Amino acid sequence: MDKNSFDDFVDKLQQEIIEEELKEYNEYIVKLFHNPKHWGKPKDAEITVDKSYLGPCGDTMQFFLKIDDNNKIGKVNFITDGCGASVAAGEQTTLMIEGKSLDDAKKLTAEEIDEALNGLPDDHKHCAELAVRTLRKTIEKYKKDKI
Ligand code: FES
Repeated sequence: MDKNSFDDFVDKLQQEIIEEELKEYNEYIVKLFHNPKHWGKPKDAEITVDKSYLGPCGDTMQFFLKIDDNNKIGKVNFITDGCGASVAAGEQTTLMIEGKSLDDAKKLTAEEIDEALNGLPDDHKHCAELAVRTLRKTIEKYKKDKI
């Protein structure tokens, strides 16, 4: 197979995958989980606290927060080994807490994430719960470490 036909093959495959995903998730969710801008562990200097949490579904999420002197979240990243919905929920969480105070971030609910995602499928609502629980555990760890 030459390079052009290989590229065409990959493009077609990618398109088919996206079409399958769109049967299960809305367009916004698919867009987020294909391109999560806050994905990955940042450099150590950009992490004040991080915490991994294993959700009841067996998937793990981890947040990395850079917290400034005013207890505001300057930078936030995440990783997860969960499903596409968990990637979208993690990314949506980062979008909703960046620049916020820790107290405000801690108030974020799974329902608010779900709403911002225009609705996760019923069998994936818990993925937003995984994001919220991981975030709260990360903030609690920071507060505990500070005492
Ligand atoms: Fe476990 Fe989505 S199925 S986080």
